[in-house]
Amino acid sequence: MSADPPASPLEKKHEAWSGRFAEPVAEFVLRYTASVGFDRRLALADIEGSLAHAAMLAKVGVLSAQDLADIERGLAQIRGEIERGEFRWSLALEDVHLNIERRLTELVGEAGKRLHTGRSRNDQVATDLRLYLRGEIDRVRQALRGLQTALVELAARHTATIMPGFTHLQVAQPVTFGHHLLAYVEMFERDDERLRDARRRVNRLPLGAAALAGTSYPIDRDFVAQRLGFEGLCENSLDAVSDRDFAIEFVAACALIMVHVSRLAEELVLWMSPRFGFVRLPDRFTTGSSIMPQKKNPDVPELARGKSGRVIGHLVALLTLMKGQPLAYNKDNQEDKEPVFDTLDTVLDTLRAFAEMVPGIEVDAAAMRRAAAEGHPTATDLADYLVKKGVPFRDAHEAAARAVRCAAERGCDLAELPLAELRAFSPAIDADVFDVLTLEGAVAARAHAGGTAPARVAEQVARWRARLAAQ
Ligand code: ARG
Repeated sequence: MSADPPASPLEKKHEAWSGRFAEPVAEFVLRYTASVGFDRRLALADIEGSLAHAAMLAKVGVLSAQDLADIERGLAQIRGEIERGEFRWSLALEDVHLNIERRLTELVGEAGKRLHTGRSRNDQVATDLRLYLRGEIDRVRQALRGLQTALVELAARHTATIMPGFTHLQVAQPVTFGHHLLAYVEMFERDDERLRDARRRVNRLPLGAAALAGTSYPIDRDFVAQRLGFEGLCENSLDAVSDRDFAIEFVAACALIMVHVSRLAEELVLWMSPRFGFVRLPDRFTTGSSIMPQKKNPDVPELARGKSGRVIGHLVALLTLMKGQPLAYNKDNQEDKEPVFDTLDTVLDTLRAFAEMVPGIEVDAAAMRRAAAEGHPTATDLADYLVKKGVPFRDAHEAAARAVRCAAERGCDLAELPLAELRAFSPAIDADVFDVLTLEGAVAARAHAGGTAPARVAEQVARWRARLAAQ
């Protein structure tokens, strides 16, 4: 909406409520309290809510059929003006609600002045924010699906690509790269579950609560809820206008998305560094240095990691905004919008950037394999092999440790020790030990549910493909 004409100069009096004021509000105070600069994003939701409210007022006989027709005609025109970027927003009219109402009255006269019967901006803004968020949650969920799909397709190409699995950032045991990628798909799936769950609580109707105590008109809230597609009513008028927990939950879910993206970003930064050399990112997602000609910097992952801080900050801002407020509505709540909007922009842009970047990741499988082989990562497999041959685990662990020490002194891999020498550590060792000492043997052996074996990863890829396609 940045293309809209600038807000008109401030006017002296605030017509919506200046009747009992002896002097006009100071110009600075008008600027300080106005929200139209950002709550314009709610305009279409505001119109949708007003249409449902007006239809309900007509149904219960508070508005005439003619008034309703005028309001519908006026709001349709306003929607067009907003969509075409022609609507003149006025800072003096404070917020999105008063701007639209004033324009409606300009267009249709008396009927415009009747629209606000039986409601308040307090229940109006809560309704608008819920309607808006409901639609945006669906967009975030779709963006999550886009990134999950990209990760699953990359995993499909690497079900058997061996890489080091780390604990404490030390090489621990070999894993498959596909398995590693699918770990993130699981995280994003839980993020999606959280959004789906939060959406149910977003999708309840506050309208009818009016300023705080309800209204004396014979309103039909169920009619409005049904018309707007809400799943239920906010059942207490004080709660309806005052709490923003639904927005906090949404931002919390987004903060977790950003934390998950940030972890992936951190890994990409590490993997891209020449010390690892596991992956290369497409040039269009990296930048050069103005001074060091050799550099190719992973700016997109770094920025995503950095932007997670913004969203976490917005979550803290909203929690703090809420914690000291007495019931019911307080103007503090006007501060809920910018954190929500910036969270949305940040999460949607970040998910899009990653969904587009992931398919272009080039993998250096040889570098991954070399790194996985460092530090005798199949020592556990040797111990497990001995246990399966009847050796008690403690003795098996000891024998494997001595074998590791011997290999380390030789500067070779466990699998490179000759059978005769391995047998010196335990007579239970036979020629089949080499099946488990290799990296391929180690990953293939972890074939239980949730394991890293290529066969299991391929199954998971198939499961995810079917699941994502079905959504
Ligand atoms: N702009 C306000 C907000 O965002 C709308 C509600 C204002 N209500 C009031 N009584 N001042 O919360």
